[in-house]
Amino acid sequence: MNDQVIAVDTDLYQIRDGEYYPEDWQSETTSIGSSIYRGLMENGRRYQNLRDEGYLVPSDDQMFETYEAGHLVALVLESDRPNPLFRSPIGTDPKHILDLGTGKGVWAIDVADMFPNGNDGTRSRSIPPPVSWMPPNCILEVDDALQEWTWREPFDLIHMRIMIGSFTEPEWDRVYKQCYDKLQPGGWIEQVEASPMILCDDGSLPPDSILHTWGVYTMECAKKAGRELDAIDTMSDSIRKAGFVDIHEKQYKWPIGPWPKDKKLKEAGMVNFQHWMSGMEGWCMWLLTKFGSPQPWTKEEVQVYVAKLRAELKTPRYHIYQRARRVWARKPFVDELEPEIKREPSP
Ligand SMILES: C[S@@+](CC[C@H](N)C(=O)[O-])C[C@H]1O[C@@H](n2cnc3c(N)ncnc32)[C@H](O)[C@@H]1O
Repeated sequence: MNDQVIAVDTDLYQIRDGEYYPEDWQSETTSIGSSIYRGLMENGRRYQNLRDEGYLVPSDDQMFETYEAGHLVALVLESDRPNPLFRSPIGTDPKHILDLGTGKGVWAIDVADMFPNGNDGTRSRSIPPPVSWMPPNCILEVDDALQEWTWREPFDLIHMRIMIGSFTEPEWDRVYKQCYDKLQPGGWIEQVEASPMILCDDGSLPPDSILHTWGVYTMECAKKAGRELDAIDTMSDSIRKAGFVDIHEKQYKWPIGPWPKDKKLKEAGMVNFQHWMSGMEGWCMWLLTKFGSPQPWTKEEVQVYVAKLRAELKTPRYHIYQRARRVWARKPFVDELEPEIKREPSP
């Protein structure tokens, strides 16, 4: 468990008349160019409509911007490693890699660039992302991961990131089983998940802050929707249950805001702040307007709530973070498998 407390950067407090001064880290990220794709408009956001139940997060430009920021947070926190994209030891010449639920495709594109001789497939249920250039060895497919996978070549690595809320429990089991079946023996699965709960180790987040309510509300609604947001705590066991061995994990604290003293954590916190600012409305609109209590919220109620959350997020005196975890595990080689018990037919 990563229970190290993150040291605070006290230089950040350039107090002027009791006000926090520098604000450049709060500027909006550049908007990503829009493309028009089909989808279902609801509450001012666009959702994909491949399955009736839908996915709880929109597939629109604002969300793609959020995915890009999330990708950067994960990269910054691994930036002292030669390969910040994944930890699975798949060697230098993998042939087939799959990124399931690829979002904007940023991870898949980076990996395709890293291994120009390999084929990098992605499967996402989202509306095709607004990418203007795709490496020739990166193939984007818009499809439902819950359908039977038709790829023929076994994969060296299957990667998933921030897939919380995508599947019900039995659906997760199906996804892990398909991963297991479609990896070659000795191939790797790797998953990165983050928790929606906003945490603080030093009491700097006041007990009456509404940031405390955020994780509780979204998790309650997701539970009602049958899509629990606890993949960060369940994925290791689910991966083990699916038959994987050699399971590794790394836990992280993803700071929100520039408050940490450590340079890498500060940078991650600045990007994660943008991740939250652009992501929060999309993360909770579907959940709260369908499963909010005591009755489903209106779009306007959600917008007011998000505006209050954003205002609080801008307070750098709150030393807040979210937990994240990376798990990577191997499909056993054939000679590692237990021989099947041969049962004699009963008389
Ligand atoms: C939160 S996004 C994460 C995107 C990306 N992995 C990243 O880290 O930037 C989750 C992605 O999973 C996709 N997804 C959800 N349910 C899916 C399904 N049943 N089949 C395929 N993709 C799915 C969504 O469309 C979205 O692109």
